Amino acid sequence: MTTILAIESSCDDTSAAVLRDDRLLSNAIASQKVHEQYGGVVPELASRAHQQNIVPVVDSAIKNAGIDRCDIDAIGFTRGPGLLGSLMVGVSFAKAFSIALGKPLVEVNHLQAHVLSHFIRESDDSRVPEFPLLCLLVSGGHTQILLLRSYFDMEVLGQTIDDAAGEAIDKAAKIMDLGYPGGPIIDRLAKEGNPKAFSFATPHIEGYDYSFSGLKTSFLYFLRDRLAEQPDFIERHKADLCASYQNTVVDFLVKKFEHAAKATGVRNVAIAGGVSANSCLRNRVEEMGRRHRWQVFVPKMQFCTDNAAMVGIAAYYKFLSGEVADLSLPPYARN
Ligand code: KG4
Ligand code: ZN
Repeated sequence: MTTILAIESSCDDTSAAVLRDDRLLSNAIASQKVHEQYGGVVPELASRAHQQNIVPVVDSAIKNAGIDRCDIDAIGFTRGPGLLGSLMVGVSFAKAFSIALGKPLVEVNHLQAHVLSHFIRESDDSRVPEFPLLCLLVSGGHTQILLLRSYFDMEVLGQTIDDAAGEAIDKAAKIMDLGYPGGPIIDRLAKEGNPKAFSFATPHIEGYDYSFSGLKTSFLYFLRDRLAEQPDFIERHKADLCASYQNTVVDFLVKKFEHAAKATGVRNVAIAGGVSANSCLRNRVEEMGRRHRWQVFVPKMQFCTDNAAMVGIAAYYKFLSGEVADLSLPPYARN
């Protein structure tokens, strides 16, 4: 049996988790509220908040797991990609803890962790995917269609050539001045709106790649034209705007994903990353799976956005294959 302590600090959530083999024992998260007033994550403030949160968060993960520090066999941590100052807090903490306990470190790639969140078991009857698995990874910084042949054999079949899906949604929320982070706000408002009220075009991109920057720009121009004649346009059509914009993003995501699944013949499909919390995307992917009789894996809400449980499962499988990290390695900002 292997006990893993995992640490995630790549963006604005400080999180620590404990796993025993692939079984999750605890997952503690401290989200940072300080960024809301700025309409986006302020890197400097994020690093400072991680520094304040990391010790209490690790403490509660260990306590909630009901283990003792000496039970820990290895320490998994997110090495990148993410904000460098944020990563540095988690990486330094992991190194210090590793020296203090005399236990090895396992470095984890944040994107791989999102995908591997599907392999976390919470009980004996947790359902986990089989390989090959096709995964749509949609987060604030990335949008990729990945073909997994095993835990760490991930082939990128397509990806965004500019903005990420989460970024496209967050920017639309910013344009409408709805608050931050925009994803959950748009999701909530969209429930009251008509997804067909307005139409926004998505670009034609070859293969399985995506592009979202044009969509965001056309939304901006669309609103500018309407606002010139009706200053209260956003206020009056908020729900319809959210529903239509969200529907356009989700439609684009799902169409290509469905093509990729058909072309590869892979019958296990999953979504992962912050945007996989979106209710419209979740419904559409479930519906797609039913139509084709594919096995669909949609993460539990707490495993969609950043969390250390997913870092722990990735670290567990790496540790099993004998991969341990050097104490001198630095974090990386980009993949
Ligand atoms: O995976 P994540 O927590 O951080 C990154 O690795 O980027 O993803 C954050 C993204 C943000 O863009 C946020 O707006 C989006 O996930 N998000 C959502 C929802 N919840 C979070 N987007 C759409 N609908 C949601 N319900
Ligand atoms: Zn993430």
